[in-house]
Amino acid sequence: MPDLILRERVQGTEVLRINRPDKRNALNLALVQALHRVLDDLQEDRDLRSVVLAAAGEHFMAGADIAELRGRGVVEALASINGGLFRRVEELPVPVIAAVRGYALGGGCELALAADIRICGRSARFGQPEVGLGIIPGAGATYRLPLAVGMARAKEMIFTGRILDAAEAGRIGLVNRVVEDERVEAEAMETAEAIGRQGAEAVRLAKIALNGQRHGVNAGQTLEAIAQAVLFESEEKERRMTAFLEKRRKQ
Ligand code: COA
Repeated sequence: MPDLILRERVQGTEVLRINRPDKRNALNLALVQALHRVLDDLQEDRDLRSVVLAAAGEHFMAGADIAELRGRGVVEALASINGGLFRRVEELPVPVIAAVRGYALGGGCELALAADIRICGRSARFGQPEVGLGIIPGAGATYRLPLAVGMARAKEMIFTGRILDAAEAGRIGLVNRVVEDERVEAEAMETAEAIGRQGAEAVRLAKIALNGQRHGVNAGQTLEAIAQAVLFESEEKERRMTAFLEKRRKQ
């Protein structure tokens, strides 16, 4: 059986390509488990600077595997099989960039939402068609989608199941930008390179501070101050600020 996830390392960037093209990358348990194993590895990786999440085939992900979903009951729903996986993606200590072509429906849209940055090609199609199947999006869309596009747009998407094309996704802020399909991964890699040029610990702490804002402004302010305090006496800060000031002085 071919690997469900293809992995490639480009310096500090781990490129993951989901590889179940015959089923449009539908998320079944085998794929969930394979992704958990990859995340276990990445969690501990000190040299990791970013992750690019893409598809091996034409489509990012057509959602949870409906063949498996039909057999799941209350216990499995409460175990939040896909939601738990996506929370781990969101909590990875480095930025995750989703590079989306083709369908990102249901769980596919939710996986993209769990990423920190979304770049898509013109072929991309986003939607939450779950209510058409008699369920709701249960892996993050009810709280992450409103954060990305606003409550009214999120409600419209979820209540109607309407599929958005790339241009609309770009217009409403569901994705950071839209590029030609052939450029999607290159654009994601350029973003990863830009991240890789910054202070490594600063980026990790910025992600913690940004993700922590969901706990509200008070907790957010405290987290921001602590993150900054960790960095303020770091060698990296000293080196980068000195380099900036000395370059100025030489001019
Ligand atoms: N779960 C299980 N299997 C899926 C799937 C899903 N979410 N999405 C696609 N597949 C399977 C199809 O059953 C088909 O399998 P088969 O070849 O064994 O019959 C194969 O992937 C190709 O799908 P197909 O529908 O023929 O491809 P398409 O290119 O014509 O259409 C989609 C692509 C994404 C529009 C269509 O597959 C679709 O609507 N999928 C379901 C999307 C959805 O409702 N997701 C939310 C789930 S909660």
